[in-house]
Amino acid sequence: MKHQVVWITGASSGIGLALVDKYLQEGHKTIISSRSEEILLELKNNSERPEDVYVLPFDLSKQDEFEKLCEKAVQAFGKVDLLINNGGISQRSLAIETKLDVDKKLMEVNFFGTVALSKALLPYFIANGKGHFAIVSSLVGKFGTPYRSAYAASKHALHGFFESLRAELYQNHISVTLICPGFIRTNVSINALTGDGTKLNEMDDAQEKGMSPEECAKIIYKGIEAGKEEMLVGGKEKYAVYLKRFFPGIFSKILRKAKVR
Ligand SMILES: NC(=O)c1ccc[n+]([C@@H]2O[C@H](COP(=O)([O-])OP(=O)(O)OC[C@H]3O[C@@H](n4cnc5c(N)ncnc54)[C@H](OP(=O)(O)O)[C@@H]3O)[C@@H](O)[C@H]2O)c1
Repeated sequence: MKHQVVWITGASSGIGLALVDKYLQEGHKTIISSRSEEILLELKNNSERPEDVYVLPFDLSKQDEFEKLCEKAVQAFGKVDLLINNGGISQRSLAIETKLDVDKKLMEVNFFGTVALSKALLPYFIANGKGHFAIVSSLVGKFGTPYRSAYAASKHALHGFFESLRAELYQNHISVTLICPGFIRTNVSINALTGDGTKLNEMDDAQEKGMSPEECAKIIYKGIEAGKEEMLVGGKEKYAVYLKRFFPGIFSKILRKAKVR
């Protein structure tokens, strides 16, 4: 898997930033995207091999530009081997107090943004006879929890879409890896939307005590390299997926009392 060109969204912070470091360390070239052009340029200029970093800023909610973006991405290093759809926003609000516009925004960025970008790149992957989509979903893409109704919906929707896509594209040698992190120490809660659409601006305890983004990136790198279809990343919270699968009644009762904001 050496000398691949890897396009990483949400590269300005947290898991995406750590993934850029990891892929560069392993000798790959990276195309880095998010809305914050200045941060991305700084990241490129501070990297050990700036010539292997291409800055491609964009907003996941502005999907009209995506075909042109994909052309630019392919031209940057002559190919794209892997698209890591990592950019996204979280939520911290009860459904009852969340404006519908906020529900829509979470779907627009996390689901439609990711789907539109992947669909824009898909004709290139098909023509090229190979390609790999990785999607940073969440454990909340496997089960809903309080205070995350629209976020959970957006991540569940990604599983539905990309599981269908994986089956459709098997003959085209295009793979799909769905990644479900638990608690990772990033700014995700600080940047999370509250019911009225403003930022929470607080670090959650669970994230503060969570896995480092660097450790998370290492695990993701290995999983993608191994061609995994789905992976759970995090501490003991990831066992909740098995609890739900094998003891759904008990899981449901625990969830009612869960101390997650
Ligand atoms: N940390 C966790 O515990 C955790 C757990 C499960 C899943 N995840 C998922 O992991 C992914 C990365 O999150 P993180 O934890 O690293 O949080 P983060 O530090 O807040 O990073 C989020 C990234 O997404 C980008 N982004 C947000 N809105 C965007 C938009 N409209 N257009 C383009 N880019 C946008 C941000 O860049 P700009 O602001 O520069 O645009 C930033 O680079 C997300 O999909 C999140 O749902 C995180």
